[in-house]
Amino acid sequence: MHAIGIDIGGTKIAGAVVTEAGIILAEERIATNAGDSEAIIDAVVDMVHSLAAQHEIAAVGVAAPGFIDVEESIVYYTPNINWRNEPLRDRLNARLSLPVTIDNDANAAGWAEYRFGAGRSVGDMTMLTIGTGVGGAIVTRGGLFRGGFGTGAELGHMRVVPDGLPCGCGARGCIEQYGSGRALLRMANEIADVGGIGLGLADARRVAGALDGTIVGTLIAAGDAGALRALEQLGHWLGQACASLSAILDPEVFVFGGGVSVAGDLLLNPIRDSYRENLPARGYHPEPAFMIAELVNDAGVVGAADLARRRLLG
Ligand code: BGC
Ligand code: NA
Ligand code: ZN
Repeated sequence: MHAIGIDIGGTKIAGAVVTEAGIILAEERIATNAGDSEAIIDAVVDMVHSLAAQHEIAAVGVAAPGFIDVEESIVYYTPNINWRNEPLRDRLNARLSLPVTIDNDANAAGWAEYRFGAGRSVGDMTMLTIGTGVGGAIVTRGGLFRGGFGTGAELGHMRVVPDGLPCGCGARGCIEQYGSGRALLRMANEIADVGGIGLGLADARRVAGALDGTIVGTLIAAGDAGALRALEQLGHWLGQACASLSAILDPEVFVFGGGVSVAGDLLLNPIRDSYRENLPARGYHPEPAFMIAELVNDAGVVGAADLARRRLLG
């Protein structure tokens, strides 16, 4: 029984037809304007129609970047799209003949990694998605942790700095402001402003007019000292967050996904170092594995499809 998974991101929407084994049979992507929430709904509807025309589909799972209720029907709040108490599932159901379920994007990605990717051999896994924002997923004893109201595992909004930078969630000092792709860009710009090892970044910024994720990613891959310093700073913050998360969740493995995770060990090494420095009971706690997501850009669609299929089966 195939299902469609849709992943609504800050810059694009991805959709795929996915088998029970997590294999993608067909995939589509389009760019989105996160400011236009109506256009996003239209695009999701079009994508489902187009994918369902080619395959027999049992259910549709939509992964959305926000706080979602325990019924998996309402988006209470999205920091990076303008949804407030948005009845997303019902609005999509009204326009589609297939059963629709919605889920948090990072929960969907974490579920896919647990079922088919980096976490497939463990029972307790924590995932952080490092993209526009920072998403979180907690798999414990083989199931997704959702909390009492459905909005648990919003790990990106864990506070790491008292009275720190304002966050899209309305609070201050969240790890999203220090450990996301956007934070990486801010750090890269700050390093470029100072000069010294930031000269490579400064040159690239002058040529392109502004730094973006692709430029910083290319400089990281080329070994540019300033870009690597920015990534180290990001990893330093993320490692601190993981140390606190270990005290609460004690996962066997931390998985990192999202666009920034393509940096691989260059991201994992500073995370592990700062985790070790900040871990409560350090030296006396078994060390979890730190891994990069295996499904990378496909995790959201694969997980959303699998969760939708499971919900259909009850
Ligand atoms: C949102 C999460 C989402 C994450 C990644 C955060 O800002 O609060 O719900 O999972 O971004 O998109
Ligand atoms: Na989550
Ligand atoms: Zn926040």
